[in-house]
Amino acid sequence: MSAKIIDGKAIAAKLRAEYHVRVDVLKAKHGITPGLAVILVGDSAASRSYVSGKIKACREAGIHSELIELPATASEVELLDRIESLNTDPAIHGILVQLPLPAHIGVSSVIEAISVEKDVDGFHLYNMGGLVTGSTVFSPCTPYGVQKILEHENIPVEGRNVVVVGASNIVGKPTALMLMQQDATVVICHKKTRDLGHFTLLADILVVAAGVPNLIVPQIVRTGAVVIDVGFNRLPDGRIVGDVDFEGVKEKASYITPVPGGVGPMTVTMLLHNTIVSAERFATAITSGFRR
Ligand code: GUN
Repeated sequence: MSAKIIDGKAIAAKLRAEYHVRVDVLKAKHGITPGLAVILVGDSAASRSYVSGKIKACREAGIHSELIELPATASEVELLDRIESLNTDPAIHGILVQLPLPAHIGVSSVIEAISVEKDVDGFHLYNMGGLVTGSTVFSPCTPYGVQKILEHENIPVEGRNVVVVGASNIVGKPTALMLMQQDATVVICHKKTRDLGHFTLLADILVVAAGVPNLIVPQIVRTGAVVIDVGFNRLPDGRIVGDVDFEGVKEKASYITPVPGGVGPMTVTMLLHNTIVSAERFATAITSGFRR
């Protein structure tokens, strides 16, 4: 068997074209341009590159974006003040604080300061908690991107065995909860899991977000499994690879996402989606007289 290689870039492009239409409708019907504020603290090259990608994607989608750059020495209070003014800024519908933050700033107090209605990253405790009951205001972007890929490929989730490798707050745990909400039988494996293959061999759908190149080899993948690789690792020779031995596993899986070009483009696409949804809610609130 040779797997279908899922083209995340193509799925993202199709969705972004649909989202552009929604932006045009918001502008024409309501005079509202969706707005995203991105806060970058410090000068990490990796964070700067992610942030540039987000700003460029906004521009291409017709979304207004504001990049707020603070020095690595900025205090937590300074950052909280910025967030507070963005929370009440009517031109801004989404607020994203790029992580990681410098060590002297408390991540949870910063994330919890973002208005839940503008938490387009889906990282606020309210949105995290909402994953348990299926009632988020916004779902986190990477897990949401995984869900959209499965939907796009018409891969059913209900009643299937899903194994998530990686238990991070940003990817592993929310992905598991979102797929459980769709009635999958979900197992989460993590760095302390003994005999990983014992679990991964059960997976109809295997989602891997461990940050370990070549963690998943063909011997621990069930024949015909759907393999979604969320890993993003830079090798010493500069190559970008996921967590899955792509060449080996593609001969055993039924579907597989490549790295790069699989889940990656979907994360930013879901950020655009959440920002547009936030602006649409804002427009509805104005129309129904709840906001001025
Ligand atoms: N750092 C790495 N990934 C992300 C992300 O999805 N959102 C934010 N805010 N920071 C990140």
